[in-house]
Amino acid sequence: MKFFIGNWKMFGVPKSINILNKINSFYSKDKNRNKYRVIMTPPYTLIESYAKNFKNKKISIGSQNCYQKEQFSSDTAAVSPYMLRSVGAKYTLVGHSDNRGEGDTNAMLKDKVKYALKNNLKVVFCIGENKSEKKNKKTLNVLKNQLTKVLEKKFNKSNIIVAYEPIWSIGTGKIPTLLELEKTTIYIKKVLKNIFKKNSPAVLYGGSVDGSNVKIFKEIKEIDGFLIGGASKSSKKFIDIIKNYYR
Ligand code: PGA
Repeated sequence: MKFFIGNWKMFGVPKSINILNKINSFYSKDKNRNKYRVIMTPPYTLIESYAKNFKNKKISIGSQNCYQKEQFSSDTAAVSPYMLRSVGAKYTLVGHSDNRGEGDTNAMLKDKVKYALKNNLKVVFCIGENKSEKKNKKTLNVLKNQLTKVLEKKFNKSNIIVAYEPIWSIGTGKIPTLLELEKTTIYIKKVLKNIFKKNSPAVLYGGSVDGSNVKIFKEIKEIDGFLIGGASKSSKKFIDIIKNYYR
Protein backbone atom coordinates (compact mmCIF):
# COMPACT_ATOMS: atom_id res chain seq x y z
CA MET A 1 0.00 0.00 0.00
CA LYS A 2 1.34 3.44 -0.95
CA PHE A 3 0.46 6.73 0.75
CA PHE A 4 -0.06 10.18 -0.72
CA ILE A 5 -0.36 12.57 2.20
CA GLY A 6 -1.02 16.26 1.66
CA ASN A 7 0.13 18.73 4.30
CA TRP A 8 -1.65 22.04 3.88
CA LYS A 9 0.30 23.86 6.61
CA MET A 10 -1.21 27.35 7.19
CA PHE A 11 -3.55 27.18 4.22
CA GLY A 12 -7.27 26.81 3.77
CA VAL A 13 -10.71 28.17 4.63
CA PRO A 14 -14.04 26.28 4.53
CA LYS A 15 -14.49 26.71 0.75
CA SER A 16 -11.06 25.19 0.06
CA ILE A 17 -12.91 21.88 0.41
CA ASN A 18 -13.38 22.19 -3.37
CA ILE A 19 -9.77 21.12 -3.74
CA LEU A 20 -10.45 17.95 -1.78
CA ASN A 21 -13.69 17.29 -3.64
CA LYS A 22 -11.77 17.26 -6.92
CA ILE A 23 -9.07 15.00 -5.55
CA ASN A 24 -11.71 12.68 -4.11
CA SER A 25 -13.58 12.35 -7.38
CA PHE A 26 -10.35 11.48 -9.20
CA TYR A 27 -9.40 9.03 -6.45
CA SER A 28 -12.74 7.22 -6.36
CA LYS A 29 -12.62 6.53 -10.11
CA ASP A 30 -8.89 5.88 -10.54
CA LYS A 31 -8.16 2.35 -11.76
CA ASN A 32 -5.17 2.23 -9.41
CA ARG A 33 -7.19 3.36 -6.37
CA ASN A 34 -6.73 0.12 -4.44
CA LYS A 35 -2.96 0.51 -4.50
CA TYR A 36 -2.82 3.68 -2.40
CA ARG A 37 -4.41 5.88 0.27
CA VAL A 38 -4.94 9.64 0.20
CA ILE A 39 -4.75 11.56 3.46
CA MET A 40 -5.05 15.34 3.85
CA THR A 41 -4.00 17.35 6.86
CA PRO A 42 -5.76 20.74 6.80
CA PRO A 43 -5.33 23.19 9.69
CA TYR A 44 -7.15 22.51 12.99
CA THR A 45 -9.96 24.91 12.06
CA LEU A 46 -11.11 22.69 9.17
CA ILE A 47 -10.68 19.19 10.55
CA GLU A 48 -14.19 18.70 11.90
CA SER A 49 -16.11 19.92 8.86
CA TYR A 50 -13.82 18.17 6.36
CA ALA A 51 -13.85 14.91 8.31
CA LYS A 52 -17.66 14.99 8.34
CA ASN A 53 -17.76 15.65 4.63
CA PHE A 54 -15.42 12.76 3.79
CA LYS A 55 -16.66 10.37 6.42
CA ASN A 56 -17.81 7.66 4.02
CA LYS A 57 -15.49 8.65 1.20
CA LYS A 58 -12.02 7.52 0.28
CA ILE A 59 -9.95 10.48 1.53
CA SER A 60 -8.97 10.45 5.21
CA ILE A 61 -8.49 13.63 7.23
CA GLY A 62 -5.60 14.09 9.60
CA SER A 63 -4.05 16.75 11.77
CA GLN A 64 -0.69 18.50 11.29
CA ASN A 65 0.24 18.17 14.94
CA CYS A 66 -1.17 17.35 18.35
CA TYR A 67 -0.36 18.34 21.92
CA GLN A 68 1.71 16.04 24.13
CA LYS A 69 -1.07 15.43 26.64
CA GLU A 70 -3.89 13.02 26.25
CA GLN A 71 -7.23 14.63 26.85
CA PHE A 72 -7.79 18.02 28.54
CA SER A 73 -5.36 20.36 30.29
CA SER A 74 -4.77 24.02 31.12
CA ASP A 75 -2.38 24.62 28.19
CA THR A 76 -3.68 27.59 26.21
CA ALA A 77 -4.31 26.89 22.49
CA ALA A 78 -3.29 23.25 22.81
CA VAL A 79 -5.24 20.52 20.98
CA SER A 80 -4.98 16.95 22.25
CA PRO A 81 -5.15 13.64 20.35
CA TYR A 82 -8.43 12.90 22.14
CA MET A 83 -9.94 16.17 20.86
CA LEU A 84 -8.73 15.47 17.32
CA ARG A 85 -10.12 11.96 17.27
CA SER A 86 -13.44 13.22 18.61
CA VAL A 87 -13.90 15.45 15.54
CA GLY A 88 -13.01 12.72 13.05
CA ALA A 89 -9.25 12.95 12.48
CA LYS A 90 -7.75 9.55 11.62
CA TYR A 91 -4.10 10.54 11.37
CA THR A 92 -1.72 13.08 12.83
CA LEU A 93 1.69 14.29 11.76
CA VAL A 94 4.19 14.38 14.63
CA GLY A 95 7.62 16.00 14.56
CA HIS A 96 7.36 18.07 11.40
CA SER A 97 10.54 20.15 11.12
CA ASP A 98 8.46 23.33 11.48
CA ASN A 99 7.38 22.17 14.93
CA ARG A 100 10.78 20.78 15.91
CA GLY A 101 12.07 24.24 14.97
CA GLU A 102 9.54 25.79 17.35
CA GLY A 103 10.86 23.72 20.23
CA ASP A 104 9.39 20.22 20.07
CA THR A 105 11.89 17.99 21.88
CA ASN A 106 12.28 14.23 21.61
CA ALA A 107 10.56 13.81 25.00
CA MET A 108 7.59 15.88 23.80
CA LEU A 109 7.46 13.96 20.53
CA LYS A 110 7.47 10.63 22.37
CA ASP A 111 4.41 11.73 24.38
CA LYS A 112 2.70 12.95 21.22
CA VAL A 113 3.21 9.57 19.54
CA LYS A 114 2.13 7.70 22.66
CA TYR A 115 -1.09 9.65 23.24
CA ALA A 116 -1.97 9.81 19.55
CA LEU A 117 -1.74 6.01 19.27
CA LYS A 118 -3.70 5.59 22.50
CA ASN A 119 -6.49 7.66 20.97
CA ASN A 120 -6.57 5.64 17.75
CA LEU A 121 -4.83 8.17 15.58
CA LYS A 122 -2.33 6.81 13.09
CA VAL A 123 0.96 8.67 13.43
CA VAL A 124 3.04 10.08 10.58
CA PHE A 125 6.34 10.63 12.33
CA CYS A 126 8.59 13.12 10.49
CA ILE A 127 12.38 13.06 10.57
CA GLY A 128 15.10 14.78 8.57
CA GLU A 129 18.49 16.43 8.65
CA ASN A 130 19.23 20.10 8.03
CA LYS A 131 21.62 21.55 5.48
CA SER A 132 24.68 21.76 7.72
CA GLU A 133 24.15 18.24 9.10
CA LYS A 134 24.05 17.00 5.52
CA LYS A 135 27.15 18.97 4.59
CA ASN A 136 29.00 17.48 7.56
CA LYS A 137 27.92 13.95 6.60
CA LYS A 138 25.86 13.54 9.77
CA THR A 139 22.60 12.60 8.02
CA LEU A 140 22.43 8.94 9.03
CA ASN A 141 23.41 9.69 12.62
CA VAL A 142 20.81 12.43 12.93
CA LEU A 143 18.07 10.19 11.54
CA LYS A 144 19.01 7.30 13.79
CA ASN A 145 18.89 9.59 16.79
CA GLN A 146 15.51 11.04 15.84
CA LEU A 147 14.06 7.54 15.44
CA THR A 148 15.55 5.80 18.47
CA LYS A 149 14.91 8.67 20.91
CA VAL A 150 11.19 8.67 20.16
CA LEU A 151 9.93 5.35 18.80
CA GLU A 152 9.70 2.28 21.04
CA LYS A 153 9.07 -1.39 20.43
CA LYS A 154 5.88 -1.26 22.50
CA PHE A 155 4.27 1.26 20.13
CA ASN A 156 1.92 -0.35 17.61
CA LYS A 157 4.04 -0.41 14.47
CA SER A 158 1.06 -0.92 12.17
CA ASN A 159 -0.29 2.52 13.18
CA ILE A 160 3.00 4.31 12.51
CA ILE A 161 4.29 5.73 9.24
CA VAL A 162 7.67 7.45 9.06
CA ALA A 163 8.18 10.41 6.72
CA TYR A 164 11.75 11.26 5.77
CA GLU A 165 11.86 14.97 5.01
CA PRO A 166 15.31 16.51 4.58
CA ILE A 167 14.81 20.05 5.92
CA TRP A 168 16.92 21.58 3.12
CA SER A 169 14.49 20.08 0.62
CA ILE A 170 11.22 21.36 2.14
CA GLY A 171 9.74 24.09 -0.03
CA THR A 172 13.04 24.71 -1.83
CA GLY A 173 12.70 22.68 -5.03
CA LYS A 174 15.90 20.84 -4.07
CA ILE A 175 15.72 17.05 -3.86
CA PRO A 176 18.21 14.31 -2.91
CA THR A 177 19.86 12.27 -5.65
CA LEU A 178 18.33 8.92 -6.42
CA LEU A 179 21.29 7.10 -4.95
CA GLU A 180 21.36 9.21 -1.78
CA LEU A 181 17.66 8.77 -1.19
CA GLU A 182 17.76 5.04 -1.81
CA LYS A 183 20.63 4.61 0.63
CA THR A 184 18.95 6.77 3.27
CA THR A 185 15.58 5.02 2.97
CA ILE A 186 17.18 1.58 3.29
CA TYR A 187 19.06 2.81 6.35
CA ILE A 188 15.88 4.22 7.96
CA LYS A 189 14.13 0.87 7.43
CA LYS A 190 17.07 -0.94 8.98
CA VAL A 191 16.91 1.26 12.10
CA LEU A 192 13.14 0.76 12.29
CA LYS A 193 13.47 -3.03 12.00
CA ASN A 194 15.86 -2.85 14.90
CA ILE A 195 13.50 -0.79 17.04
CA PHE A 196 10.43 -2.91 16.36
CA LYS A 197 12.29 -6.24 16.13
CA LYS A 198 10.14 -7.01 13.11
CA ASN A 199 9.32 -5.49 9.76
CA SER A 200 9.68 -1.78 9.28
CA PRO A 201 6.65 0.52 9.15
CA ALA A 202 6.02 2.33 5.86
CA VAL A 203 8.60 5.03 5.05
CA LEU A 204 7.60 8.03 2.95
CA TYR A 205 9.65 10.75 1.32
CA GLY A 206 8.76 14.43 1.62
CA GLY A 207 10.37 17.61 0.33
CA SER A 208 9.49 19.44 -2.91
CA VAL A 209 7.64 16.44 -4.37
CA ASP A 210 5.85 17.39 -7.59
CA GLY A 211 4.34 15.83 -10.68
CA SER A 212 7.63 15.62 -12.53
CA ASN A 213 10.14 14.48 -9.89
CA VAL A 214 7.77 11.77 -8.64
CA LYS A 215 8.80 9.81 -11.75
CA ILE A 216 12.34 9.71 -10.36
CA PHE A 217 11.23 8.72 -6.86
CA LYS A 218 9.14 5.83 -8.07
CA GLU A 219 12.35 4.07 -9.10
CA ILE A 220 13.09 3.55 -5.40
CA LYS A 221 10.98 0.58 -4.38
CA GLU A 222 11.67 1.10 -0.65
CA ILE A 223 9.70 4.37 -0.69
CA ASP A 224 6.12 3.72 0.38
CA GLY A 225 4.69 7.08 -0.58
CA PHE A 226 5.00 10.82 -0.19
CA LEU A 227 4.31 13.70 2.18
CA ILE A 228 3.40 16.59 -0.07
CA GLY A 229 3.31 20.24 1.05
CA GLY A 230 3.13 22.95 -1.61
CA ALA A 231 1.69 20.72 -4.35
CA SER A 232 -1.17 19.53 -2.13
CA LYS A 233 -2.82 22.95 -2.23
CA SER A 234 -3.74 22.43 -5.90
CA SER A 235 -5.98 19.52 -6.90
CA LYS A 236 -4.31 19.36 -10.31
CA LYS A 237 -0.78 19.25 -8.93
CA PHE A 238 -1.71 16.64 -6.34
CA ILE A 239 -3.56 14.45 -8.87
CA ASP A 240 -0.62 14.76 -11.31
CA ILE A 241 1.68 13.33 -8.66
CA ILE A 242 -0.53 10.25 -8.31
CA LYS A 243 -1.06 9.91 -12.07
CA ASN A 244 2.63 10.18 -12.88
CA TYR A 245 3.57 7.78 -10.11
CA TYR A 246 1.45 5.03 -11.70
CA ARG A 247 2.17 5.97 -15.32
P1 PGA B 1 6.96 20.75 0.36
O1 PGA B 1 6.65 20.45 1.91
O2 PGA B 1 6.34 19.61 -0.43
O3 PGA B 1 6.32 22.06 0.09
O4 PGA B 1 8.45 20.78 0.21
C1 PGA B 1 6.72 19.18 2.47
C2 PGA B 1 6.40 19.21 3.93
O5 PGA B 1 6.84 20.15 4.64
O6 PGA B 1 5.72 18.32 4.45
